[in-house]
Amino acid sequence: MLIGHALGLQRIELYTEADRPLTEDELAECRALIARRGELEPVAHITGRRAFGRLDLEVTPDVLVPRPDTEVVVDVVVEMAPQGARIVDWGTGSGAIALSVADLRPDVTVTGLERSAAALAVARRNLDANPALADRVRLLESDGMTAVAGERFDVVVSNPPYLVPADLERYPALRHEPEQALVAGPVGTEDHARVAREAAGVLQPGGWLVLEIGEGQSPAARDILAGAGFGEVSTRADLAGIPRAIWGRSAQPGAPDSPAS
Ligand SMILES: C[S@@+](CC[C@H](N)C(=O)[O-])C[C@H]1O[C@@H](n2cnc3c(N)ncnc32)[C@H](O)[C@@H]1O
Repeated sequence: MLIGHALGLQRIELYTEADRPLTEDELAECRALIARRGELEPVAHITGRRAFGRLDLEVTPDVLVPRPDTEVVVDVVVEMAPQGARIVDWGTGSGAIALSVADLRPDVTVTGLERSAAALAVARRNLDANPALADRVRLLESDGMTAVAGERFDVVVSNPPYLVPADLERYPALRHEPEQALVAGPVGTEDHARVAREAAGVLQPGGWLVLEIGEGQSPAARDILAGAGFGEVSTRADLAGIPRAIWGRSAQPGAPDSPAS
């Protein structure tokens, strides 16, 4: 990918031009990019692009590099959102979840919320690059749900920060990504609790909350969802077999297992 980027070639062209000798300038460009990767800079930062689901997204150091694990969260939302659903993505970053859900479900509208103005600018450019989604995706600068207070949604989805500060020491590659996108606090599930609390305030009765979780966080996340009044809690594993998505349903008045009944 780095050599293709340095030479301005598609990956297939690396094969069709495999026997073309490189100029000194081209070799120098390849070596410079490989040296950056040697410093653990993400490939997506070097190329400025990252594939996510069906989309090819712009990525800068202002946003989390979208991870394949998050595609599991998108799958869950795409499968369970009711027809014509209003969906909100808490902490949209590059817009990966918001844009993918809108792309895969042409009947829904999606609001992406983001506290970082710099990250939101990246999401806006990604939306501009996908004009077919423009009518159904709204991107708002917002600390939590502030910008949508008083509105009602059918689904809240979020991949919130879920690392602890010590993780940044354990995984040096993470130093290239924004700390505010990664670290939740000393426990790791602080933002899950915040999103669950805020979701309970904006969801329609019977609406769904879908969260991405980190390895080992599923028991704590179950407690958080139950404590915020969500029932019918389930999880889905990522390709490595690690529970990665957790979801639950807000209380429906009159339902037998409704905390309100
Ligand atoms: C783990 S990243 C996820 C980004 C993107 N949704 C994805 O899955 O690739 C978490 C995002 O939440 C944003 N964020 C953190 N706290 C927030 C808050 N209080 N309100 C809104 N966004 C917040 C961060 O800036 C970051 O972009």
